[in-house]
Amino acid sequence: MLARSEGAEVIVAGRNKAALEQAYDDPGITADVVDVSDDESIAELARRVGSLDHVVSTVSARARGTLAALERASLAQSLDTKVLGPLMLAKALAPRMNLGGSLVLFSGVNAFKVNVGYLGVAITNGAVDYLTRSLAVELAPLRVNAVSPGVIDTGAWDALGEEGKQEFFAHTGSTNPAGRIGTVDDVAHAVLFAMTNSFMTGMTLKVDGGEPLV
Ligand SMILES: NC(=O)c1ccc[n+]([C@@H]2O[C@H](COP(=O)([O-])OP(=O)(O)OC[C@H]3O[C@@H](n4cnc5c(N)ncnc54)[C@H](OP(=O)(O)O)[C@@H]3O)[C@@H](O)[C@H]2O)c1
Repeated sequence: MLARSEGAEVIVAGRNKAALEQAYDDPGITADVVDVSDDESIAELARRVGSLDHVVSTVSARARGTLAALERASLAQSLDTKVLGPLMLAKALAPRMNLGGSLVLFSGVNAFKVNVGYLGVAITNGAVDYLTRSLAVELAPLRVNAVSPGVIDTGAWDALGEEGKQEFFAHTGSTNPAGRIGTVDDVAHAVLFAMTNSFMTGMTLKVDGGEPLV
């Protein structure tokens, strides 16, 4: 919505087009379909969108759990969704991107703060960081950056249950230097900055309340 308020024509794409249409009721926002684990689905999206300026990928399929609990299938899905998916998106969409355009990928705080129970999340987000820098060199002069959020209440923590979630948010907000958890707006402003700062590429912007510092 922030890009839209800056005058951008926006296409939001995901696996559930109807849900996206419901979430974004704005004539300047078009909903489309893509499954980033399916190369044909990515190719079809690329054909439909034609040319474009910026691509932002927020996909995720996180593999939380301790080493003893982790299964190969959930790790593979996490890496396939959040690392290989954006890589194949970049492959399909970069040739259609206008000069001055950029890609923004999503990493996450667990790439920079080691926590037991987040091993799968850490290696996935760490790989996004390397993907960002590699694409920034290979796709230049297109710019490629990433945003690494800290804890944000997007629904991503709903599996903890309402009480568990509030406890987790209170703990994170009372122990990080920022003194609160983040908001969707905090992250959206970082994405807009990455899209519009024409001298920044290969960078991961940490919007995490300073959590890895303590
Ligand atoms: N929220 C946080 O606290 C936090 C912290 C650190 C990092 N992050 C990162 O920030 C980004 C956005 O976070 P979020 O909280 O909005 O994540 P989220 O609620 O888990 O959303 C992830 C999105 O990825 C989509 N997706 C999953 N697999 C897909 C596929 N194969 N093809 C297309 N779309 C697919 C899901 O759509 P469906 O509806 O189709 O499932 C969902 O909309 C993610 O990369 C996340 O890892 C978030």
